Amino acid sequence: MRPPWRRRRAGAALLLGLLAAGATLGIARAVKGRRASPLIDGERLASFSSLPPPSPPADPVAARRVALGRSLFADPRVSKNGDVSCTRCHALDAWGADGKRVSRGSDDREPPRNTPSIYNVGGFFALLWDGRQTDLTAQAREVLLSPRTMATTPERLAQTLSAVPSYSDAFTHAFPGEKEPVSFDNAARALAAYEETLVTRGRWDRFLEGEPSALTDQEKAGFNRFVEVGCVACHFGPNVGATMFQKVGLVKAWPNTRDRGRYEITKRDSDWMVFRVPPLRNVARTAPYFHDGSIASLPEAIRMMAHHQIGRDLEEDDVTLIAAWLGSLTGDPSP
Ligand code: HEC
Ligand code: HEC
Repeated sequence: MRPPWRRRRAGAALLLGLLAAGATLGIARAVKGRRASPLIDGERLASFSSLPPPSPPADPVAARRVALGRSLFADPRVSKNGDVSCTRCHALDAWGADGKRVSRGSDDREPPRNTPSIYNVGGFFALLWDGRQTDLTAQAREVLLSPRTMATTPERLAQTLSAVPSYSDAFTHAFPGEKEPVSFDNAARALAAYEETLVTRGRWDRFLEGEPSALTDQEKAGFNRFVEVGCVACHFGPNVGATMFQKVGLVKAWPNTRDRGRYEITKRDSDWMVFRVPPLRNVARTAPYFHDGSIASLPEAIRMMAHHQIGRDLEEDDVTLIAAWLGSLTGDPSP
């Protein structure tokens, strides 16, 4: 079976094709029609696509898995001391993050990097700041075991959850026919099934699907600047990022080189300071920024990106416009 991010990407490619056609005909003309409006060239939109709405569960078993995953995601009993839930750091009502520079997990330990949003993860080409995982189930296993987050063990998790009658029922129904349905692996599978449903569609999607008035003129102008300045070279696709790895400090050295990104895994010189290009969906709501959470303001993050990634110091007007467009990427959390 293909991993979930591939399935979602195939869907996105199809949408992209439809969109490109729609964009040149519909959107460009509609925007042209209003004189004062900034014009958005349909070709520029072809690098982007709307997020497919989460598909309804294929069958009742799939639906039960998602429901079980939803319970587990909010339940601190999945952690060693019974005090840390996934929602502590990935708050669902705060666009999937917690607003802290770094979060605190089990025994008050800090994961070494800033907490990214949990929304839209089903569509990323790779997970985490360094892209070391590509599969949501494997990532869930990692985070459950990690001493800095949940710090549990497969045995402890299975034992704790088996002792809760509602969970033994829920696992039995979500994994029918299995001898020992309440297991560490099944918990990770249910979490992954739930995470796939966490999609935030918003005004940007409506715009891409042919509703020009979904964006303000300022946001449209900001989109144009984002493309013209060259941000689009790395941030594109349905999630405006999360399609590839890139060096941070590509043109001008990045200030903080304590965490060397993919180099920490591969020890290859070519991976020094290479990170996954992060998605920019909901970015206006998920400060602070960058893998170290060092930057609190979005305009400052934009200025740094232009300076270090492109070698360009932006006019304040451009920073304001780009920030306005990034604000239009804020979506509505799926129920
Ligand atoms: C203590 C805070 C904390 C808790 C609790 C936590 N996470 Fe995270 N999560 C993080 C951090 C930090 C990262 C980024 C780590 C990295 O890149 O190395 C992350 C990354 C992720 C990602 C990848 C997001 C992306 O952009 O690729 C997923 C998926 C995820 N977590 C799922 C979970 C699940 C499921 C749970 C509960 C079982 C959980 N997390 C609990 C802090 C937390
Ligand atoms: C050469 C590739 C590249 C270009 C060009 C680029 N970025 Fe980035 N962007 C990255 C990478 C890699 C990161 C992750 C950096 C880190 O965390 O240390 C990032 C991070 C970001 C973040 C922080 C996201 C978060 O969740 O913390 C924002 C905002 C951002 N970029 C906006 C922009 C804007 C605006 C431009 C154009 C001025 C731009 N980027 C140009 C690669 C690029």
